[in-house]
This record gives sequence, structure tokens and C-alpha cells, in this order.
Amino acid sequence: MNIIKKKAWQISENEVTPKELFEKRRNFLKLGAASIVSSGAIMELLAKEDLPKITLDFIKDKNPDNLKLNTFEQITSHNNFYEFTTKQSGVKDIAHTLKTDNWTVTIDGLVENPMEVNLDDLVKMFTIEERIYRFRCVEGWSMVVPWNGFSLASLIKKVKPLSSAKYVRFETLVDPDIFPDQKRGRFGVIDYPYIEGLRIDEAMNDLSFLATGLYGDVMPKQNGAPIRLVVPWKYGFKSIKSIVKISFVDKEPLNTWQKENSREYGFFANVNPNVDHPRWSQKKERVLGSFFKQDTLMFNGYEKEVASLYTGMDLRKYI
Ligand code: MTE
Repeated sequence: MNIIKKKAWQISENEVTPKELFEKRRNFLKLGAASIVSSGAIMELLAKEDLPKITLDFIKDKNPDNLKLNTFEQITSHNNFYEFTTKQSGVKDIAHTLKTDNWTVTIDGLVENPMEVNLDDLVKMFTIEERIYRFRCVEGWSMVVPWNGFSLASLIKKVKPLSSAKYVRFETLVDPDIFPDQKRGRFGVIDYPYIEGLRIDEAMNDLSFLATGLYGDVMPKQNGAPIRLVVPWKYGFKSIKSIVKISFVDKEPLNTWQKENSREYGFFANVNPNVDHPRWSQKKERVLGSFFKQDTLMFNGYEKEVASLYTGMDLRKYI
């Protein structure tokens, strides 16, 4: 049983109606431990339909900034997932090879409670929330996504890092039978596994999120099924997909894009309109589906929540 302490951005009551839920009936069958709201009446209705009795909560985001959501179609048709292809419009057509059944996540390193856990069991440990976040790719495009999942902080509290753990390192699946670019071995576009990392205080920030779905359904494969990181104040490459390993370490992990090109990509990758990428300006962005560009916001609009993490740091140096 999870006790939920509500935040400013959460509504006071669950607002998914039986109708919406009924319409999601098909998805329900597929959902497993993913995110859907329950209520007595709805569960009764579902019981009659012989559906699994899922009792997970899905706390809707209040969307205080009134962000306009991108459509499901937009979010799932323009993807960066190099393991499949560098063609952003092509990931959706080939991502079906990703098999997410019996997905295991290993949590190891400097923690009191390491675990190797089936994803369904892992998800059951947490309260499922919706987080409507801005998402800004370093390439200059952006979107607004209603993610479902749980806070990274809630997982960290469960595994209890030792005081020597200073960073969290994340790793994507390696399986050349699934990912065509991994099959190319050393001729692949980048080195695998894809690696990302956060400083432990960044990881503990309430915005850091492990997403298992979007738009109330399981995570589409092209978006990083079955579980991915979402760090909304950082460029999108920090938001590593299809995670199989989370390690607590004492040294700053060498993340994939820093390893590929440290002149252009660093460890922090905080969204910053005042620091240009060596090859293009970061002042503006194009929201998927929009014709005109809009101003990029400092820390992608999350300055209030995260600026204090970087007090005293030269953000021109720590890119
Ligand atoms: N994770 C893995 N494993 N492989 C990748 O190629 N691309 C990153 C990030 N996570 C990537 C990844 C980049 S560059 C971006 S912008 C986002 O995923 C894109 O997420 P989306 O496809 O859901 O929009």
C-alpha cells in the first residue's frame, strides 16, 4: 500500500472517469502493472468483463503551466533511438522487434538493497503518476508529453544508497538480435550500451522520473519501452531508453554522447538558451507540429525546481 503525499501539481482527486477507463478496456488487457486509475465502481465493471483486477493508482498531473500536449501521433513518430536507426521518422516502423516480456532491471553498486527485479514487480512497488513535462532535444526540437511512471527518488529511497554513492548510472539493453545498429558491431553509429548518468542530488530531485508509459498506456517501443528515464530540465539525450541496469557509483559516469564527442556534449546537458551548441544556437526550439519557433527557457522552464542544484557552477563550462 502506497501512501501518497500530494504535490502542488497533482489534482486532489482522481479524475479519470469510468467512460474514459471503459474506452481504455483494450489497453487494460495489455497493461500489466502499468498505469490506470481504479475506483470501486470501475473495478466492478471491469470484473464483469473478466479483466485483470489492477488496483494501481494513476495520479493525474494538474498541469499548472497549462502546457499544450503534443499528440500521441507526434510523440511516437519522431524519435531518437540510435540502436534502431538514426532516421527519426523510421524508428516506429522497426521498433516492434523490441521484446519487453519478462524484462529484468538490475539495481546494483553502492546500495544497501541491490536487486534484480522483474519490471512488473518493480512497478508494483510504486504509485503511478502522470507527469506532463516539456521535453527539449539538443537538436532544437521539443514536445510536451504526458508520461506515466514513478519518481526516481522513490526507487532510490527503496534501495538505500550508501553514503559513498555520488552518482547514478543507467544502461540500455544490448541485444543485437533486437537492435540493428548493435548488430553492426564496431561499425555501429555509436558505442553500445547507451549509458547515461545523474549526480545523486539530481536523481533525487522530484522531477526525475522513470516512465513506464505515456498517454495512460504502456510505453511505445520507439519511446523506450518498457522503462526509460525522463529528466525534463536536461536535453533529451539524458533521458535514456529501455533501461536494464541502474548502478550507484562513486565516480561520474562517462555518458554516451560525452564519450562520442566531448567537445559538443557534456555530463550535465542542462537546457540553457544562453550556451550555444558549437554548431547551432540553443536560443529557440520548434515544438513538434508547429511551424514557428519559440524561445527556449532556462532549464527548460524548471528553473525554480532545479537551479539550486547548480549554485556556484559555471554553466558555460559544465555543459
Ligand atoms: N536512449 C537510447 N538507449 N538510445 C538513444 O538513441 N536517444 C536520446 C534519448 N534516449 C536515445 C536514448 C535522445 S538524443 C533523445 S532526444 C530522446 O531519447 C528521444 O526520446 P523520444 O524518441 O521518446 O522523443
